[in-house]
Amino acid sequence: RKPENCAFVIFGVTGDLTHRLVIPSLYNLAAGNLLPEKFCVVGVARKGMSNDELRDSLLKGLRQFATRPVDDVVAQQLLQCVTFVEADAKDPPSFDRLREHLDALECARGTGGNRLFYMATPPAAFTPTARELGRTGLMKENGAWRRLVIEKPFGTDLASARALNAELLKIMEEHQIYRIDHYLGKETVQNIMVLRFANGMFEPIWNRNHIDHIQITVEEKLGVGHRGGFYDATGALRDMVPNHLFQLMSLVAMEPPTRFDAHSVRSEKAEVLSAIQEPSEEEALRRSVRAQYLGGRIGNEDIPDYRKTEDVKPGSTTETYVALKLLIDNWRWAGVPFYLRTGKALAHKRTEVAIKFKQAPLSMFTGTAVDRLSQNFLTIGIAPTESIELQFNAKIPGPSVTIDGVEMKFRYGDYFKADPSTGYETLIYDCMIGDNILFQRADGVEAGWQAVQPFLDAWKNAGTNGIETYRAGSDGPACADQLLRRDGRTWRKYS
Ligand code: BG6
Repeated sequence: RKPENCAFVIFGVTGDLTHRLVIPSLYNLAAGNLLPEKFCVVGVARKGMSNDELRDSLLKGLRQFATRPVDDVVAQQLLQCVTFVEADAKDPPSFDRLREHLDALECARGTGGNRLFYMATPPAAFTPTARELGRTGLMKENGAWRRLVIEKPFGTDLASARALNAELLKIMEEHQIYRIDHYLGKETVQNIMVLRFANGMFEPIWNRNHIDHIQITVEEKLGVGHRGGFYDATGALRDMVPNHLFQLMSLVAMEPPTRFDAHSVRSEKAEVLSAIQEPSEEEALRRSVRAQYLGGRIGNEDIPDYRKTEDVKPGSTTETYVALKLLIDNWRWAGVPFYLRTGKALAHKRTEVAIKFKQAPLSMFTGTAVDRLSQNFLTIGIAPTESIELQFNAKIPGPSVTIDGVEMKFRYGDYFKADPSTGYETLIYDCMIGDNILFQRADGVEAGWQAVQPFLDAWKNAGTNGIETYRAGSDGPACADQLLRRDGRTWRKYS
């Protein structure tokens, strides 16, 4: 179905996010006939330009970042909807002009007053922009809907996340806020709920009686590259864990929602995150690993030491790798560790959730038969292959009973032929139809920060103590293996 008519306002229209993701996604929606009948895009930036200059720049971006060949007719139709407004939250009259522009445009284009404001700006602009939207009444819903899309980071710790939410909620209501985590735009991530709740066979074993532990891995091959300034102030934990890794964790660990709607699903997700055990400072240090990469080679590329990266402080202690052991204090998961790891400049690109089942209670297989007994993993592959994989044991054909681990693998690509996408189309479409099931609610964001805060605090107090290193192009620091070995476990091998 087509969304209702609306105006789509992009703050930070000259930036990377707009060119790389927002416009290519709008283009894909346009190509799929999924934009509203009456639609207009208002690009906002601090530095003035003409409508034509903006359109040229967006077209250039589209040609570079489109996920499919660009059809000129569709692209021109979309770009003709675009107009430019110069506005800066530091200059309040410019927001009054934005409102006048929107009022006039809505009359001319017949978009009816529904407005979606997309903050594709650096985080420092979030609060000032929201305040101006509030002051000018642009977010007020009277008959028409008004929505705000905001990108991560939602704060840099628990206190700042709470402050940001409180600011936004002074200006608008929760249902108007769409906090994007791009992991929720991934089909394989959305499928976690379908895997668990549309199949009768998994739910009975999805608990502490049958599951030994869960591993969540997001390994990246890329180093920090040109994002040194941002990354050095952020680090792997803040950049990835309370958002992306916790999205995966909450979908895997939450209780079955009573309904498939935004309220029920988001309540269960927030609930399970708020049940993550708060470790003491000593436990937080024992249950976490942080490390920084040293120079190395990945494929044909030489990666410099993290500390020698552009815009990174020479003595930086920012982690580029983190591994955590988390426990969830509820009946389903008591005593089942969740091991999370993520890092940059590693040997492989790999994003997966691996669920390790307990061994058979008693093994009648002995000697050589059992030597090769492999572990039972159910693995949800998100990258590089979108898959679901079951690892189990089978008898090797032959006169003696010898056992080997085998795999059953479902690959999305073998079953479904989807058009290549940016991963943002569903998210943007959902904002326009008013479905916030794939967006983070304030309590979920805060529960995420609450769970990582003890680690942030413990690391801060420990200073440089406990920061390990690993070579770029390796599998990560040795201490990440120790984190599991101490519990008699190992990470699932890359396959
Ligand atoms: C972003 C982080 O949110 O997610 C990046 O800021 C990271 O540092 C990226 O590289 C990972 O996303 P994906 O989809 O490639 O796993």
